Amino acid sequence: MKLIKEKEVLYSATKPTGLLTLGNYLGAIKNWIPLQDKYSCYFCIANLHAHTVDMDADLVKERTLKQLAMFLACGLDPKKSVIYVQSQVRQHAELCWLLNCNTMMGEASRMTQFKDKSAKGINVTTALFTYPVLMAADILLYNTNIVPVGEDQVQHVELTRDIATRFNHRFGETFVIPKAVVPKVGARIKGLIDPTQKMGKTDDDPNNIIFLEDSDEAITRKIRRAVTDSFGKIKFDEKNQPGVSNLLTIISACENVPIEKVVASLSGQNYGALKSRATQAVISVVRPIRERYEYYMNNLDRLYYIAEHGAKKAAIVAEETLKSAKFAMGLL
Ligand code: TYM
Repeated sequence: MKLIKEKEVLYSATKPTGLLTLGNYLGAIKNWIPLQDKYSCYFCIANLHAHTVDMDADLVKERTLKQLAMFLACGLDPKKSVIYVQSQVRQHAELCWLLNCNTMMGEASRMTQFKDKSAKGINVTTALFTYPVLMAADILLYNTNIVPVGEDQVQHVELTRDIATRFNHRFGETFVIPKAVVPKVGARIKGLIDPTQKMGKTDDDPNNIIFLEDSDEAITRKIRRAVTDSFGKIKFDEKNQPGVSNLLTIISACENVPIEKVVASLSGQNYGALKSRATQAVISVVRPIRERYEYYMNNLDRLYYIAEHGAKKAAIVAEETLKSAKFAMGLL
């Protein structure tokens, strides 16, 4: 008799604070697509996380739907994976409280996102402080084995492991300990205007970011304006040539060609050639996504249906885990 091995669980999410970017795609979503056949996958739009910063309610709603449409346009398939919106599965917020009781102030204070925003003197909520604990709840609810993310999220997955290990020690084996997986290329796409910082969703300067919604013209314009340097040599050297290196990374990730090969193929050419190659590479990735995205945005009823259906499936597993955690903690 042939034994059927259960698939391992993969979990990942994006938060709808802004429109999805090329960084989100190359660092995360693109890598999820082929894994849908190998793992039992959960993909979430973390809209509760969006309210950890000052967000307008209408904007959160609009961006949640847009991200869902983008997930589908990028190739996430509700027939293969559970695709859902965080606020529609109430177990996330409840487990978050239980995990808060097992998280130390010191470890939460060390999280970069909280440290950076509080250092800037921005009004910081307690939710921003416990943001990584909610993220731990997301991951742990589904008995997750692997969490494919960009580099900036690795710290949060490490914290999740620490919280889960502590919980299991104190209250008995309850949670599976997850592991972060980071792509070889594209784990940290930088801004076009400031290539020393990651391409974020909410930068002040839209020229710094390529959105997955951007038209071909917008992509061409933004890459034409991308900051390079005065060396005039196409070389992958992130320290001294961050702008050129970022464009090489983008080409490599979009074309699925190793960086060294991209550099070799551009040998002896100028930055104009580098930029036009980057423009072509990005347009060939973004255009088909944008076209499918427009289809989903014109079919909102379908989006609501997919979200509801996904939430129902997610809640079954989430409830099981939540029950175990409450039981372990002696909660009636
Ligand atoms: P978010 O929405 O900031 O980013 C979503 C995913 O995109 C990756 N990413 C990048 N990768 C490469 N280069 C970039 N410039 C870039 N910008 C973003 C991120 O690493 C991430 O993988 N806290 C998470 C959302 C979340 C989550 C979770 C993730 C909530 N719960 C549970 C994993 C598991 C966040 O803010 O991602």
